[in-house]
Amino acid sequence: MKALVLCGGMGTRLRPITHTMAKQLVPIANKPVLFYGLEAIRDAGIDDVGIVVGDTRKEITEAVGDGSRWGINVTYIHQEEPLGLAHAVLISMDYLMGDNFVMYLGDNLIKDGIKGFVESFEKTRPNCEILLARVVNPERFGVAELQDGRVIRLVEKPDVPLSDLALVGVYLFDENIFDAVKELKPSWRGELEITDAIQWLVDHGLRVEPHVIDGWWKDTGRLEDMLEANSIMLETIKPDIKGHVDSLSKIEGKVRIEEGAEIIESTIRGPVVIGERTRIVNSFIGPYTSIYFGVEIIDSEVEHSIVLECSKIAGVPVRIEGSLIGQNVEVIRSPLKPAAYRFMLGDNSRVGII
Ligand code: DAU
Repeated sequence: MKALVLCGGMGTRLRPITHTMAKQLVPIANKPVLFYGLEAIRDAGIDDVGIVVGDTRKEITEAVGDGSRWGINVTYIHQEEPLGLAHAVLISMDYLMGDNFVMYLGDNLIKDGIKGFVESFEKTRPNCEILLARVVNPERFGVAELQDGRVIRLVEKPDVPLSDLALVGVYLFDENIFDAVKELKPSWRGELEITDAIQWLVDHGLRVEPHVIDGWWKDTGRLEDMLEANSIMLETIKPDIKGHVDSLSKIEGKVRIEEGAEIIESTIRGPVVIGERTRIVNSFIGPYTSIYFGVEIIDSEVEHSIVLECSKIAGVPVRIEGSLIGQNVEVIRSPLKPAAYRFMLGDNSRVGII
C-alpha cells in the first residue's frame, strides 16, 4: 500500500497566515499539522508516500525532505493548479499504479491515527473505504447518506445536508478510482471532486465501505479548528522542562519548555508548549497555548492561542486569547503620542479590539 498526501490548495480560510506559509505547515502544539499525518502513515506501516504539492512546494519540500526522518520514502508530485482532490489523484496515477493507496489530506488531523483502517482495508478488500464523522455543520464538508449501513449518496458541501456524516480527509482506494477520476467533470466550484469520484464507484456497483469514526478528527482549515486542534494535542504532551526557568517563575500543569527558552518572572499554566529560544518575561501564558521558537513575550498575557516563530508581544495591557499570531509579527504597546492604535496589517487580517 502507498500513501498520497495532499499539500496543494490555496488555504484561503486561513489567510493572512497562508499568504506566507503552507496551511499544512502551521504548527499544532509546535509541530506542523502535516507531520502528524506523516507519523500516522508511518505507524500504519506504509513506506512509500507521494506528496502532492502546489505553490508552496518549496516550503513543503524543505520541511519534509526525503522523508528519512520518519523512515519513509517521499516522492513529490507537482500540481500546477489546485483543480481538486480527484485531480490530485489523476496526476498521481503513474506513481500510484499497481498498488492500493490511502489518500490523506495534509491539513487533517486524526488523533488515533489510521493503522486500524489500513488493516481493515487490507483484510476485507473493498474497492474503497471512506471514513465518516458526525458533525454539527455538515454543509462545510462532503456528506454521505447511508442506508442499512451502505453508502448510497455523497454530496460535496451540500446546501441542505442529507445527514450529519461528514467525509473525513482519509480515503482508501484500489485501482478502480482511476477509472472514476478519468470520467469526472468539474463541479460548481470548478474542481474535480473526490466525493463525485466515490459516487461514481457507488453508481458502478463497486464496494464502498463506510466507517463511522468515534475518535477525534479535525480539518484544520479555519482558525477555530486550528485552536481546537491545538488544545486537544496539548492535552497529550509530556511535561518536560529543558529551558531555563528562574526562581521567581511558576510552572503549573502540563508544560513543555524547549531548549534555550527562558522563563523570567512569569507564570506558565499548562497545557502549554514553549519553543526553542523563546523568552517569556514578566508575563502570563495561560492554558492551551503554543508559543513557537524565537518568540519574545514581555509584560503581557496570552491564553488559548498559537504564536508562530520570531514574533514579539510586549506591554499589551489586555490578555490576548483565541488568537493565531503569524511569523515575525509585533504586537507592542506604543509610547507615541497621540495615544492611538497603529496597525500595519496584511490582507485578510482580523483584529478584535475592546
Ligand atoms: O477535510 C475534509 C473535507 O476535505 C471533506 O469533507 C471534503 O469532502 C473534501 O472535499 C475536502 O474539503 P475541503 O474544501 O476542506 O478541501 P481543501 O480545499 O481544504 O483541500 C484539502 C487538502 O487537499 C488541503 O491540504 C489542500 C489539498 N489540495 C486541495 C485541492 C483543492 C490539493 O493538494 N490539491 C487541490 O487541488
